[in-house]
Amino acid sequence: MITWGCQMNVYDSARMTDVLRPLGYAPVDNPSDADMIILNTCHIRDRAAEKVFSELGRLRVIRDERKAAGRETVLAVAGCVAQAEGEQILKRAPYVDIVLGPQTYHRLPEMVARAARAGGSVIDTDFPAEQKFDFLPQDAAPQTAANVSAFLTVQEGCDKFCSFCVVPYTRGAEASRPAASVLAEARRMVAGGVREITLLGQNVNAYHGEGPDGGVWGLARLAYALAKIPGLERIRYMTSHPRDMDDALIAAHRDLPELMPFLHLPVQSGSDSILKAMNRGHTADEYRRLVDRLRVARPDLALSSDFIVGHPGETDEDFEETMRLIGDVGFALAYSFKYSIRPGTPAAGAPLQVAEDVKDRRLQALQALLREQQDDFNGSVVDRVAPVLFTGRGRKPGQMVGRSPWLQPVHVDGTDELVGTVRPVLITTRLSNSLAGTLTEECALA
Ligand code: 5AD
Ligand code: SF4
Repeated sequence: MITWGCQMNVYDSARMTDVLRPLGYAPVDNPSDADMIILNTCHIRDRAAEKVFSELGRLRVIRDERKAAGRETVLAVAGCVAQAEGEQILKRAPYVDIVLGPQTYHRLPEMVARAARAGGSVIDTDFPAEQKFDFLPQDAAPQTAANVSAFLTVQEGCDKFCSFCVVPYTRGAEASRPAASVLAEARRMVAGGVREITLLGQNVNAYHGEGPDGGVWGLARLAYALAKIPGLERIRYMTSHPRDMDDALIAAHRDLPELMPFLHLPVQSGSDSILKAMNRGHTADEYRRLVDRLRVARPDLALSSDFIVGHPGETDEDFEETMRLIGDVGFALAYSFKYSIRPGTPAAGAPLQVAEDVKDRRLQALQALLREQQDDFNGSVVDRVAPVLFTGRGRKPGQMVGRSPWLQPVHVDGTDELVGTVRPVLITTRLSNSLAGTLTEECALA
């Protein structure tokens, strides 16, 4: 299983592994040892399809070597590039056996059987009416036995149609899983040792699942129900859209200690005219006010965001507005990108595309500011005590690693018995992308 892209793909890969396990498949580290290779692809970045074809070329060599040794290899392409390119993949890489979109991975065993029987290629990029989640093995093991922190997809797809984005086309319309199915999966995960669940969705806070009582549950309602599961210490969710951040969810941040004080809330730009061109549906000040309300509800809330520089029509003044917004809000973490054309999206054909060197300059300035804010944020935790959920061993012998409530990796000297527990740690040192500390007795921040 080769996984590219977002956490949703990590989750999908784990579920594809689950549905294949009854057929006798198990993950391996090296493609040369694999009877089946699934490339789970991502379409969000530039030249995504080219990257897939070049990887397929590499995998074909491996498949041919195995064939020379008398071993067959099933080659499958999954994920968003499979969805977007479909037939094109079989045209350009006819040696691929299976092409499947993100909505059909529950049908993978059937596709494997069909590919084996027919000896030809199988393609399934439907958006089937049945919910793939209903067809997953009920006794699926958590992602790995020692996995303390797991992803759980609750919502998929997007109806927002931001000018620059392919997701509404590759992942389809917004759809939510029934709450009962989410809660059951969460309970299974916790029974298997999971202590932190990150609820996933392209528009996770637009969640509107069927409730066990027949009504419709929003994400807040789901979070309150999850928080009741004994043993589930931490709940997170991503990615959220500012427009779907409702009062109930803000209140949940006030009420639920399990809901971690870290929120990924992409704003993309701080300029009202660019936000409008992007079809984001809110202004920069509306975003500022939303952040204020969140911080009233949960004063230690840290924010992260995505930014795009050089969207068509972005002027120097627009860019300065983005810098001003960053200065006003203060981000603990951020991902930033130069706008790049995605064929078929509204912005692709827009006039006033921004020159590459201008994008480069803006990105550098933006990243310098965000880096400074990230360093300041990480520094602000030093000399304080933070509750850390330990997830495994660190890189050095005798070292264990976990996460702070704000998603920072924290290293301490310790033993395996820490794994799966939340312990107070006195943070002593800020490293470039992580923190180091020592176990302590008191938990001033918990
Ligand atoms: N160009 C640059 N960045 C993009 N993103 C999505 N589409 C594009 C594009 N065409 C970024 C957005 C989104 C993140 C996942 O990727 O910032 O939030
Ligand atoms: Fe893409 Fe916008 Fe939907 Fe996010 S909200 S997935 S950026 S269309």
